Amino acid sequence: MTLTGKTALVTGGNRGIGLAAVRALALAGAEVHFTARSAANIAAAQRDLGDIPATGHHANMTDRIAMATLIEQGFDILVNNAAVIGPIGRILDVSAEAWAASIDINLTAAFHATQLALGHMVARGGGTIVNISSGAAHRPQEGWSAYCAGKAGLAMLTRSVHMEYRAEGIRIFGLAPGVVDTDMQATIRASGINPVSQLPRSSLAPAEEPARAIAWLCTSAADALAGQELDIRAPDLRAAAGLPPPG
Ligand SMILES: NC(=O)c1ccc[n+]([C@@H]2O[C@H](COP(=O)([O-])OP(=O)(O)OC[C@H]3O[C@@H](n4cnc5c(N)ncnc54)[C@H](OP(=O)(O)O)[C@@H]3O)[C@@H](O)[C@H]2O)c1
Repeated sequence: MTLTGKTALVTGGNRGIGLAAVRALALAGAEVHFTARSAANIAAAQRDLGDIPATGHHANMTDRIAMATLIEQGFDILVNNAAVIGPIGRILDVSAEAWAASIDINLTAAFHATQLALGHMVARGGGTIVNISSGAAHRPQEGWSAYCAGKAGLAMLTRSVHMEYRAEGIRIFGLAPGVVDTDMQATIRASGINPVSQLPRSSLAPAEEPARAIAWLCTSAADALAGQELDIRAPDLRAAAGLPPPG
């Protein structure tokens, strides 16, 4: 798997799946950039990365001007990873403001990054976008109406970009990363609201698994899957990406 010569941007790359994706893309040879919401978070990620080269940028995904400044340089690969799980609660129990903020981060910010990156990609004759999806894009979970609606919207954005730009060399994928051992799952466990929150931590997958799949999707080996919503739990995808069979 080689991404030598490619430049990549991972949003929310300071922890969890995003940080693992930064590592995987860099190890595959890409020049990797990532966003984080504070200088301290960038420094913490750099410590975790050790010798692995990657450049952190202080940017909130919802700040289109900051994202435009960053994306101005043009990237071959965009991983729309940053997201929030909250507000967690049944619809009568969540604030309208928190619900709208979730859509702003999980869907609208991904649209901004996509639109900003696409212009450069089309001008260069191609590019790859990986949208981190979720089973929640397709199946509602109690207490997650904002998250499910945002991820469902993101899945449709994936399909829309494919329809409009595949002829211009844009490869876009939605990837449901499985149930992964990150801070997001710790928040979910603490909520206790639905069956996902009952999953024991020991049953969760390591972030390295979706990270490997993300890096693989950025290679031409994944060309035939472009435009699709993929689930890392699919045995064929796992085998193609070099992951062990589902446990
Ligand atoms: N973990 C799972 O089981 C699972 C399952 C399905 C899908 N996913 C998806 O996988 C992706 C990564 O999730 P994760 O589990 O790694 O989550 P995580 O550990 O909670 O990390 C989320 C990342 O997103 C960043 N972020 C959130 N809001 C942001 C904003 N407004 N601007 C910039 N960055 C922002 C966070 O930055 P801060 O550190 O500043 O908060 C953090 O880097 C998400 O799209 C998530 O929906 C995860």
